[in-house]
Amino acid sequence: MVAKSLWVQLTTLLFIIQGWRQTEGCLEQERIALFQLKSFFNQPTKLKDWVDVKGSNCCQWKRVECNITSKRVIGLHLNFTRQSNLYGYLNVSLFLPFEKLKSLYLGGNKIAGFVDNKGEKVQPMMNLEVLDLFGNLLMNNDLTYLKGLSSLKSLNIGGNQLEGSIDIRGM
Ligand SMILES: *[C@@H]1O[C@H](CO)[C@@H](O)[C@H](O)[C@H]1NC(C)=O
Ligand SMILES: *[C@@H]1O[C@H](CO)[C@@H](O)[C@H](O)[C@H]1NC(C)=O
Ligand SMILES: *[C@@H]1O[C@H](CO)[C@@H](O)[C@H](O)[C@H]1NC(C)=O
Repeated sequence: MVAKSLWVQLTTLLFIIQGWRQTEGCLEQERIALFQLKSFFNQPTKLKDWVDVKGSNCCQWKRVECNITSKRVIGLHLNFTRQSNLYGYLNVSLFLPFEKLKSLYLGGNKIAGFVDNKGEKVQPMMNLEVLDLFGNLLMNNDLTYLKGLSSLKSLNIGGNQLEGSIDIRGM
């Protein structure tokens, strides 16, 4: 009888500890998505603490900003984190797990355009309010990717290869 209630107490304690651990860390799907982004933002000295370790609290990683209550990623400061002499195409589908992302800094990364998961209907980054693309290699037609960002309040597209007048209707 005593052993049984002790067992119940121990398992209860275990559940409490597990629940506590989950609310302490970041969302596992966001941690995995961040680690996937690291192969593009590959400057070896910049994102050193972005590790592929299950349960690692990505809210404490450098350049990641979380909402302290919800533990969701709300800001990514990825400016000047890509090491390459070559231009690259950023896969926007990789941002799909960041449903609460509000600020995204992508300046100075030699981004020459965007790719996605063909046929994917979901528009990533619906809550994005600040987007900084300064100092990349984007051209006018790359901006069609920005059309669905209905919450956008601040957009920096200076220092790219845009020409002429830009139609921002629908942005
Ligand atoms: C953080 O998340 C909570 C709960 O989802 C929300 O009520 C709050 O407005 C968020 N705060 C910020 C700064 O995003
Ligand atoms: C990245 O952008 C943020 C926001 O504009 C700025 O505070 C920060 O200094 C920038 N970091 C680098 C390395 O340029
Ligand atoms: C972009 O990422 C998604 C999700 O990981 C993947 O399914 C898709 O094939 C990628 N697209 C390209 C063009 O690499």
